Amino acid sequence: MSGGQLYDTIGATYTVTRRTEPRIAAQVWAALGDARTVLNVGAGTGSYEPHDRDVTAVEPSALMRAQRPADAAPCVAAAAESLPFADHSFDAAMAFATIHHWQDPIAGLREMRRVARRVVVFTHDTIEGGWLRRFWLTRDYLPEVAGLLDGRPSMTELASVIGARTEPVLVPWDCADGFFEAHWRRPEAYLDDQVRRGVSVWARVGPDPEQRAVRALRDDLDSGRWAERNRDVIDLDAAELGLRLLIA
Ligand SMILES: C[S@@+](CC[C@H](N)C(=O)[O-])C[C@H]1O[C@@H](n2cnc3c(N)ncnc32)[C@H](O)[C@@H]1O
Repeated sequence: MSGGQLYDTIGATYTVTRRTEPRIAAQVWAALGDARTVLNVGAGTGSYEPHDRDVTAVEPSALMRAQRPADAAPCVAAAAESLPFADHSFDAAMAFATIHHWQDPIAGLREMRRVARRVVVFTHDTIEGGWLRRFWLTRDYLPEVAGLLDGRPSMTELASVIGARTEPVLVPWDCADGFFEAHWRRPEAYLDDQVRRGVSVWARVGPDPEQRAVRALRDDLDSGRWAERNRDVIDLDAAELGLRLLIA
C-alpha cells in the first residue's frame, strides 16, 4: 500500500490530535529563510504551512486533502516522487513528518531539490546506535517500531542526497501536535485510542503489538513502575528524541 493509500484508510480523524506545534513551526519557518514561494510536500491537512508566504501544497491522499481548511493553500494531488512542477519553480520545498511514508524517499528528495533552491525536511534520526532506547515507548513497550525501518535509507543517506545539514528538533513537554513522540512526558495519553489513531505507527505495527503495548503501559502506570523507570524525563521541559530538520 502506498503512503497516500494508507492515509486514505487511516486519516479520517487526523485533525483531532494533529496540528501545528508553534515552537517547532518557528524552527521550520526559520529554516525556510527568505523564501517567498514554498512547496509543502506530503502536506496533509496543512499543519506547518507558513501563512506569510506563498504556499503550494502537494498531497496524494484525497481524504487528507478533503480535511484542509477552506482558507488553506491550494493543494495538488501528487506524490513526492513525481512532482508536477518545472525545475526551480519554488524558493523552498518543505516536507514535515511524511518522508517515512514515501515509497522512494531518495527520488522524492531529488524531486524537491529539482523544483526548489532550498529544501527543509522534518524527520527522525535512525543513525545513532541506540536510537530505539532513546524513547521509553519504543524501548519498553513497542520495539516493533524497529521493523518499520527495515530497508529504509538512513538519515545520513537522505541528507547526502540533497547535501543537507541536520539540526536537532526538541519536543516540548506539552507539544501541541500529537505525533508519535509528542506525549513523552504525558504517558497516559498513549492509553487514549484517539491519540493512537492520529499516528500511523500504531496502524503499521498492527493490533496485537498495539494492544500488548497499551496493556503493559497501563499496568506500569498503575503500579508506579513507569514513574520509577522514567525519573530522568519527568522534570524536563523538552526532550531530544532524535527528531531532526534536514536543511539544504
Ligand atoms: C503524518 S502525515 C503528515 C502531514 C503533514 N505534513 C503534517 O505535518 O501534518 C503524512 C502525509 O504524507 C502523505 N504521503 C504519503 N506518501 C506520500 C508520497 N509518496 N508523497 C507525498 N506525500 C505522501 C500522506 O498522505 C500523509 O498526508
